[in-house]
Amino acid sequence: MAKTRIIVGLSGASGIIYGIRLLEAARELGVETDLIMTETAAEMIEIETSLSPEQVAATATRVHQSNDFTSSLASGSFSHQGMVVIPASMKTVAGIACGFADNLLLRAADVALKEHRPLVVVPRETPLSMIHLRNMLTLAQAGAVILPASPGFYHQPVDIQGLVDHVVGKVLDVLSIEHHLYRKWREEDGK
Ligand SMILES: Cc1cc2nc3c(=O)[nH]c(=O)nc-3n(C[C@H](O)[C@H](O)[C@H](O)COP(=O)(O)O)c2cc1C
Repeated sequence: MAKTRIIVGLSGASGIIYGIRLLEAARELGVETDLIMTETAAEMIEIETSLSPEQVAATATRVHQSNDFTSSLASGSFSHQGMVVIPASMKTVAGIACGFADNLLLRAADVALKEHRPLVVVPRETPLSMIHLRNMLTLAQAGAVILPASPGFYHQPVDIQGLVDHVVGKVLDVLSIEHHLYRKWREEDGK
């Protein structure tokens, strides 16, 4: 049976840890990942974590350069179970919403929408302008799932990892990938 394969796009919003955790979780779950990181995402890794972009890239199954439009990911013939843009900057949200595919991440997201494959967008910005909200509405209307980097607290997280895992777990839920990243509401008492 073919392995589950997802595209992970990291863009240059704060919260790059969400994308890094998704790559790690996918690897732990045996899910293959095709990674695209924008130039700003690589800078964000240096700014927000103690990792290098190369170390993050090493957790993916395959890595694609964001300026490489000859990549298989630029074509609708590339088969995958979904694409996740995590975190999604407002620039990247705007680019996808306009079909302005001037890097490989934007092109792959554009392709996911035209091919009706799952596209999960995890925006990170606050507060949101009307332009941001309109762009996200456009994406939702085009079939994307808008999944804000907005963790719940009902599973009583005790650290940042617990918060991050909740958001990443919700992403995996959308893609129907089983995981144990967070305890679901009433999972244990069966109510
Ligand atoms: C430290 C830092 C934090 C940023 N955080 C955000 C953010 O949370 N959300 C956002 O939309 N843009 C944020 N930006 C701005 C984006 O990095 C910028 O718009 C960039 O052009 C995004 O490019 P990309 O989407 O191609 O990665 C941040 C920039 C810096 C330097």
